[in-house]
This record gives sequence, C-alpha cells and structure tokens, in this order.
Amino acid sequence: MYSLIRPLLFTLDAERSHDLTLGLLQSAYRVPGVATLVRRRYADRTPSLPVEVMGLRFPNPLGLAAGLDKQAHCLAPLFDFGFGFLELGTVTPQPQPGNPKPRLFRLTRHAAIINRMGFNSSGLATFLANLAAQPRRGLIGINLGKNKVTPDAQAIDDYLAGLRAVYAHADYVTLNISSPNTPGLRALQDEAPLAALLAALKHEQGLLAQAHGRHVPIAVKIAPDLDDAGIDAIARLLLAHRMDAVIATNTTIARPGLEQEPRARETGGLSGRPLRTLSTRVIRRLYAALQGRIPIIGVGGIGSADDAWEKLVAGADLIQLYTAFIYQGPGVVGEIVRGLAEKVHAHGATSLADALRRARMN
Ligand SMILES: Cc1cc2nc3c(=O)[nH]c(=O)nc-3n(C[C@H](O)[C@H](O)[C@H](O)COP(=O)(O)O)c2cc1C
Repeated sequence: MYSLIRPLLFTLDAERSHDLTLGLLQSAYRVPGVATLVRRRYADRTPSLPVEVMGLRFPNPLGLAAGLDKQAHCLAPLFDFGFGFLELGTVTPQPQPGNPKPRLFRLTRHAAIINRMGFNSSGLATFLANLAAQPRRGLIGINLGKNKVTPDAQAIDDYLAGLRAVYAHADYVTLNISSPNTPGLRALQDEAPLAALLAALKHEQGLLAQAHGRHVPIAVKIAPDLDDAGIDAIARLLLAHRMDAVIATNTTIARPGLEQEPRARETGGLSGRPLRTLSTRVIRRLYAALQGRIPIIGVGGIGSADDAWEKLVAGADLIQLYTAFIYQGPGVVGEIVRGLAEKVHAHGATSLADALRRARMN
C-alpha cells in the first residue's frame, strides 16, 4: 500500500510530506475501526521476539529512532506498525522553531536523508501534555536536547530540567549530545564536558529514583564521526559513571559515496543507507570496549533484516531506524522483525539473545 502513496508524498517538499503524513495518521485514528485495521495489518503480523535490556522487557528489538515523532503526537499508530519501542523527541526545555526551511532533503537514489532541523521543539510542557493525552501502549524513550539560546556552559541545566520533567513518564531517557545541527552540542562528547554532564545527570537520576521509587535508565546518544580514541574515551566515561545504555549513532556530517550527488552538498546530518557502515563501525568499537557491561542501541542505515543483524552481531542489544521508514513505509518494521526471527530459528536458538551469543562467537 505504501508503494502507492509514496510517489504522491515524494512530489511534496520533504518536511511538508512528513507533517502531512503524521497529520493524516492522527486524523485517521479518530475514525472508528482504523486502529484495528492498522494493527491487524502490521503489529499482528510482527512476531514476538522478546529481549531484556536496561531491565526492561521489549516485545521485539526494533524501535523507532528519535526525530520522527518529536512532539509525541502519534504514539498509537506507531505502536500499531509493530515497533518494539518508540523514542520520542528530541525535546528541548523551552519551545524553539529550529532552523529556517528548507531543512530536510531526500537523496532518493541513495535511500538517504540530509536534515538540519535544529531541534524544532514544542518544549517540555507541550510535549508532556501531548503524551498525557494518549494511552500508554508500550515502551517509550524520551530524547532530551538543549535549547539553542542556552549557553554551552549551562547545557547541563537543560538536560537536568529535561530529566526532572520527563522522569515519571519515560521508560528510558536519552541524552542527545550528537546532533550536528545545534552549534556546540557535539563538544559535549569531549572528555571534560562529558564527565561533568554524566556526573550531574547520574546524581540527579539517583535522587529521582528515590523520590519516584523507580530507576529510569539513561542512554547517551553519540555521533558516527568520532575517531577510535574518541569512542574509547566515551566508553571509559560511560563505565565510570555507570550509565545505563549508549545509542550509536546519530547522523553523520560525512558524505560517504555521495561525491556525485549535488544534494549531498546541503549542510546537515546524513542518515539512511550511506550511514550504515559508519555506525556499525562505532558499535563494533564500543562493544569491544564495553564487553557487554553497558547495552548498545544500534542505529544508522538499517533497512533490512540483514542490516539489523549486522548491527546486532557487531554488539547492539536493540536497534532503531528512521530513514528506512520514510523510504519503505510501515511494512519495513514487520519485515525486519520477521527476518530476525528467522535468523534466530536458523541458528537453532531459543531466543534472540541466545542466537546472538552463538553468532558473536563465530
Ligand atoms: C529528519 C530527521 C530528524 C532527526 N531528528 C533527531 C532528533 O531530534 N534527535 C535525535 O537524537 N536524532 C534525530 N535523528 C537521527 C535519527 O534518530 C537516527 O539516529 C539517524 O537518522 C540514523 O538512523 P537511520 O539511518 O535509520 O535514519 C533524526 C534523523 C532524521 C532523518
């Protein structure tokens, strides 16, 4: 069905078609029976493939990556497409418009996107109101960012404000320090600022866990443009500060294999197929350093079960996608989870974790 709609959507400007699709989904879900139809077509055809990560039990390992539902508008349809979890946001403390348009570009021949959205966000208050207006259906990560006007020296305050606001509503929280579209943000990945950020957030997490009687895991999302020394330094800090997970990776400022593509000259973060091997490299390096002590959520260019498997065998415990959803539509979710279930079966394993143990030994 998506193959019929996609050519229409792709005649529109990329951001308009994104907004239109989410708007249509929300409207359609007000019509009785639509949710049931969607669930039957997608979620019900997605096999159960449970995994336990960060102390949470995920119905399957494939989640929606941050950035698609930044304002928490569309939870029910996204769960009905079969995702094992949704990462909402990035949300900033105060509302902000993001960068001037156009700021989202399709590179269709390469199944890729370049975006320089710059954290367009409704702010925490509206985000939480949107979330509260929808029934809880599955596991939700909330991805936090900083406002553009917040001076770099006060970035920690924005993340603390975010953590306090969303703590009661999230199954896990992500610190996004790797978007290339907020000036200075990626500098938070450097050793001294990262150590300060993690220490402050870990301390606050402890206080909040006591107050709420619940430990909400914190994941740190990193860039694919780090060198090996940078990845190793981050791994050391994640261990030292006992962080709960790491998400690898965000979009890249590199343009691998896109030398002939005029649109690749647009400023912003590249996602989709050309990102795949860059992000898998980061996952492999992280896994070697962390050795399973901190779980990894792998994301970047996943468009098939083979791509997902590559990331899992490289060391990921969970996986996410965004760009393939734009190019292939909601059917890609079930297709990937079905493919993974077949791989588990082919390994003669009883669970995904068991299959991965065997595959990683080879
Ligand atoms: C249009 C767009 C907006 C994004 N916005 C965010 C964001 O707000 N926060 C974030 O952490 N990642 C954001 N991302 C990055 C994705 O979450 C993901 O890390 C990246 O796109 C790689 O996955 P993919 O190749 O499957 O798209 C965005 C990606 C795209 C394409």
